[in-house]
Amino acid sequence: MSSITPRFIEELRMRLSLADIVGKRVKLTSKGREHSGLCPFHNEKTPSFTVNEDKGFYHCFGCGAHGDMIKFVMDTEKMPFREAVEYLANLAGIPMPKDSPRQEAYEKKYAGLSAIMEEACRFFQENLFGLSGKNARNYLIGRGISGNIAKQFRLGYAPHGSQLAAHLRTKGYSMTDCISLGLVGRRQDGTFYDYFYDRVMFPILDRRKRVIGFGGRIMGKGEPKYLNSPETTLFHKGEQLYALPNAIETIRKKNSAILVEGYMDVIALHSTGFTNAVAPLGTALTDNQIKLLWQFCDEPIICFDGDNAGRRAAIRAVNRALPILQPGKSLRFVWLPDTMDPDDVIRKKSPEIFEKLLETAKPLTFALWYSLLEGRLYDTPERMAKLKQDTLDTANQIQNEIVRGYYIKELKKQLWQLEKNKKENHRTYQNIAPMIAPTPGISEARMMIAYLICYPHVAQKILEDLGALIFQENELNNAIHTISDLIFENPDITTSEMLANIPEDISQSLKGEIEMLKKSQRSERQVTEELRVWIQNSRIKALETDIQIKTKEFSENSSSELWEQIVTLKKEIENLQESE
Ligand code: UTP
Ligand code: MN
Repeated sequence: MSSITPRFIEELRMRLSLADIVGKRVKLTSKGREHSGLCPFHNEKTPSFTVNEDKGFYHCFGCGAHGDMIKFVMDTEKMPFREAVEYLANLAGIPMPKDSPRQEAYEKKYAGLSAIMEEACRFFQENLFGLSGKNARNYLIGRGISGNIAKQFRLGYAPHGSQLAAHLRTKGYSMTDCISLGLVGRRQDGTFYDYFYDRVMFPILDRRKRVIGFGGRIMGKGEPKYLNSPETTLFHKGEQLYALPNAIETIRKKNSAILVEGYMDVIALHSTGFTNAVAPLGTALTDNQIKLLWQFCDEPIICFDGDNAGRRAAIRAVNRALPILQPGKSLRFVWLPDTMDPDDVIRKKSPEIFEKLLETAKPLTFALWYSLLEGRLYDTPERMAKLKQDTLDTANQIQNEIVRGYYIKELKKQLWQLEKNKKENHRTYQNIAPMIAPTPGISEARMMIAYLICYPHVAQKILEDLGALIFQENELNNAIHTISDLIFENPDITTSEMLANIPEDISQSLKGEIEMLKKSQRSERQVTEELRVWIQNSRIKALETDIQIKTKEFSENSSSELWEQIVTLKKEIENLQESE
């Protein structure tokens, strides 16, 4: 890593024109050395963004955005400091500054170790496509991974025996280095053995696509399922993310990242077009990883498995993020339906359903509030007071004053609503995950939509529950989402306004149902009840379908994990039936 000095930055400022750099993004009109244009950092119609070439600063009188050329590049190109400097140096046509001797020595050592990891990665890759890799290839095919994807992610196979150790030795690499990289171990008798054997290998690359570590998956049963490289000079698990180099472009472009739990999840997502997916490396998410993602996008979506471990992981992520929240920087959360991971959703359901699930992403305040309520009673003044105290203590962890202020406001609002409306809050943490609803009968679905149109303010009360149902049919999803958007925008919408605003084909095709409902003159209470029951039943049916699938899987291939999942699903059904 070379040292960037203030003098070097001065040099960049001398050689480049701030107006030129800003001009790549913003259309500027000039008056002498003063330029102005529409601010790229907030929405505006009249220009309040100015560039002062002499002082080397830009300033927006509308939103207060202010900085020099480096800050401008960092913020508009979503680049970290170093990269922004490199980008500018490149524009200016000057080389990056030279390393200090100590840094040079470090770079050299790093490069040497890096070369060993690269060789190991190539060795594993060759083995995957060679004779010994047949089982591993079949394993990958069985998991829906094509040869191309395997190449893109540089997947490999670590063969039996001590073949890597032997290979690296003949190539002349230092065995001490190989040991320090966690590739090789030394036996008592002085011979060497491979750390990874008979596993499918997932290389972990840093931002510059250098191999820094591996995760290796066992193909059959056995422990551990994934073996990961230990922490080494190159590999710091808490500061890296799996597949970041593959995902970075899309993350920047879409200003969105999907954070999942596992290597296979990342690969399944990338191979179906979600090329902004990354994962932590077999450890809990760290604040450094969150900050790393914030360099490239504002609100990464945390998408953890629908099991209890996944739920706990999400709560941990909330607690990691709270102290470091910044204006505009946050996380969003998606809970996957019962015991599925993203790979399962993609393969057993469809990429479209995964997309729908992403649309259910909830803000951090939501996840925080539910984690505060989880497993609590608030039926006495003391218990209510404890909830209030814990809530405020939690909000006070937020270091940024502005964000903290808004959190306290928002959480107080939630507390107040809870007091006002205790009955509404039987909802537990368990059932906030969306469900993939079974196909309802056509007439049933039409009736449901007609209800929403005819009783908009009943519909309003159940919007959240409704939003948590995802249907396999796109038309049904679209109709329901169009209607809930309308109600959300205008809570007082009337039936005729609704009819005027939804697509012709929906309103036309539902004419009969709507007539019928108007005639039946049900009370609001009846309607609310009917819709609730309908949603409840859809959830129960969804769970039952999953139990069926899992039970079949269990009869073919029993494991205690699967059994636990079945039991959990059954419990969830019981909970739903009780709350009726
Ligand atoms: P999971 O157990 O959820 O596995 O672990 P998975 O990703 O669904 O894997 P498949 O689909 O069975 O192959 C999630 C992640 O936790 C880490 C790995 O990074 C894994 O991808 N992990 C898991 C380990 O590091 N070691 C383990 O033994 C298990
Ligand atoms: Mn999986």
